[in-house]
Amino acid sequence: MDIKKATVVGSGLMGSGIAQVIAQAGFPVSVYDSFPEALKKGKDSVEKSLGRLVKSGKISQDKVSEILGRMVFTGSMEDAVKDSDIIIEAVPEIPELKEEVFKNIEKFARQDAILATNTSNIRITEIASSLKNPERLAGMHFFNPPVIMKLVEVIKGEKTSQAVFDSIFDFSKKIGKTPIRVMKDTAGFVVNRISAPESLYFILLLDNNVDTPQAIDSFAKGQGLPMGPYELMDYVGVDTVLHSLEYYAKTLSPDYGKTKIIKKMVDENKLGIKTGQGFYKWENGKAQIPKSEPSSKVQLLDVFVLEINEAVKLIEDGVAVPDDIEKGYSLGMNRPFGPISVAKGLTNKEVKDKLDELYNKFKVEVFKPARTIEEGKLKDAISGNLKSKQGAPAKENKDQGDRLVHIVRQGKVARIEIRNGKNNLLNGTVLDQLHESIQELWNDREIHVVVVAGNDNVFSAGAELTQYIPDAFDFIENSRKGERTFRELSEMPKIVIAEMKKYTLGGGFELSLNCDIRISTPDCIIGFPEVTLGLLPGWSGSQRLAKLIGLSRATSLILTGEKFDGKKAEELGIVYKTYSSEEIREKTMEFAADLAEKVSPIAAALTKRLLNKGSEVPMDVGLEMEAIAMGTIYTSQDFMEGISAFVQKRKPEYKFR
Ligand SMILES: NC(=O)c1ccc[n+]([C@@H]2O[C@H](COP(=O)([O-])OP(=O)(O)OC[C@H]3O[C@@H](n4cnc5c(N)ncnc54)[C@H](O)[C@@H]3O)[C@@H](O)[C@H]2O)c1
Repeated sequence: MDIKKATVVGSGLMGSGIAQVIAQAGFPVSVYDSFPEALKKGKDSVEKSLGRLVKSGKISQDKVSEILGRMVFTGSMEDAVKDSDIIIEAVPEIPELKEEVFKNIEKFARQDAILATNTSNIRITEIASSLKNPERLAGMHFFNPPVIMKLVEVIKGEKTSQAVFDSIFDFSKKIGKTPIRVMKDTAGFVVNRISAPESLYFILLLDNNVDTPQAIDSFAKGQGLPMGPYELMDYVGVDTVLHSLEYYAKTLSPDYGKTKIIKKMVDENKLGIKTGQGFYKWENGKAQIPKSEPSSKVQLLDVFVLEINEAVKLIEDGVAVPDDIEKGYSLGMNRPFGPISVAKGLTNKEVKDKLDELYNKFKVEVFKPARTIEEGKLKDAISGNLKSKQGAPAKENKDQGDRLVHIVRQGKVARIEIRNGKNNLLNGTVLDQLHESIQELWNDREIHVVVVAGNDNVFSAGAELTQYIPDAFDFIENSRKGERTFRELSEMPKIVIAEMKKYTLGGGFELSLNCDIRISTPDCIIGFPEVTLGLLPGWSGSQRLAKLIGLSRATSLILTGEKFDGKKAEELGIVYKTYSSEEIREKTMEFAADLAEKVSPIAAALTKRLLNKGSEVPMDVGLEMEAIAMGTIYTSQDFMEGISAFVQKRKPEYKFR
């Protein structure tokens, strides 16, 4: 459906801003409000906002008249909606009012017009239930202020048609916004739903007399937030907070109804800025916050794990994919990162232990670890490798079955398996997916050792030479891309082991040379046949082999194009151990698991870099690097653990910290 004209119903804070965004993007828009004074206020606020844009040089005065020329403010619903392609409702957050407004819209809107609601929390299915054609309603959730905030959550109700959903998604892009797909209807959608447990947490802190609002707000501001949680609740309206909690109590969990202080404040008309008193007294639009030392009773990690937990529940239920959750939450909350990237830096155990602690302290089910976290599969969930029940695919546009590079986790070891046909040839897609897999594991502290393997039979017979590369420049870039991707393995802060079998030739050999340790079958055919094909060993091959086994031996092997076996590679010191093809997988995994337990991962990461980088610099620089690395390691928890375990004659339990 091609949207050419829009209507916004409700010209309040959000409605007037949404209409302005649409008009600024070049679309004609009508604005309807049932209260004439609200209509006027809406128009005034658009004019003021445009005036500010002129002042800051973002638009010209001529542009203002052009934008206003596309806007019609009217008190007639019929005039407002009759020839519009999309009608966006932005009236107050009261379900019955929204239903009544949509009934009225239905009377005058064209049969094929798309309907959208800007509701913050209410399930779309609920609002659509009284519509004659519920399939034409979807959520289109803007953030405040709509002129500035980029995010729009596009929400699919149970009956929303795909065509309507797609049209709203495209239209959101056309008006300059960044939409995310909320594929399944849930109260609060993505951003507000992820924030819900954290609101409950801050309220429970007061209900349980853990600390004062000013101490906790002071802590929050010390962490770089523009407002503390209580100042924010005062600003949004304590009654609005209560309404959301009551709605979540009905739709998500009765826990949200267990709060005391918020109800009491609403009964006492302490609604925040709008009544001059909430958690704080408000004067001239500013909260009068008593001075306080930052609270020592709360931690940022408390909030982060609650966000991660809720994000995982959304992934489990197929509400949204991890990429959209990350993008949505950071844009919606105006933060540089979202819960998915925070989760990448934590282990499953760290998240679960913290959630268990919060659950035991407050006894609310909402804080209990999500099923996936209980099962130890946090990393699968946030990397999109979890099969969701329904709704969103695990990874947008990336069918796992079609992937050429897969991650298989086994305790502290991850296998990166390349599976591209019989000979496992390496091409641009393999390199891209290898890069993605390396990035996914890079900061994952649950993984201490990585094994790079091929398909069931072959490590890799080399680069896909049939790949079309139009000219020399592209060939240079292709060469650099392989080298860059493989180098990531040598720089990755983990021990990386290559598991070589049947063929490790050309590009495959180059891949293995970028790993830290090579394990091979004795009969694996290894070598650089490039010169016999009129090529030279790229992707770092011409450089790394000589570094590993010396110039003379490397030159002989490369210039003759000799193919040698795993046994000879072991004699040359290229390969560390050999195992038969029947047992290589099991033996490599055992070896990797053993290293993952007994080697401090921090020590391994730093030592590996010292060895690789140190061999490229003069000795005195390398020694200086060594001393600095030693200083760094001295403060690590794993160093303490290694020494304590040694003294106590027990096995160390390294945490990668
Ligand atoms: N304020 C926010 O930060 C924010 C952010 C995102 C979404 N929302 C959602 O947007 C919607 C509107 O919120 P708001 O903050 O703009 O509220 P608001 O009170 O500023 O505006 C609501 C407007 O609706 C008008 N209205 C009331 N009854 C009407 C009717 N029957 N027909 C037509 N107009 C009617 C009012 O006169 C008012 O102008 C709500 O669903 C809210 O949850 C709000």
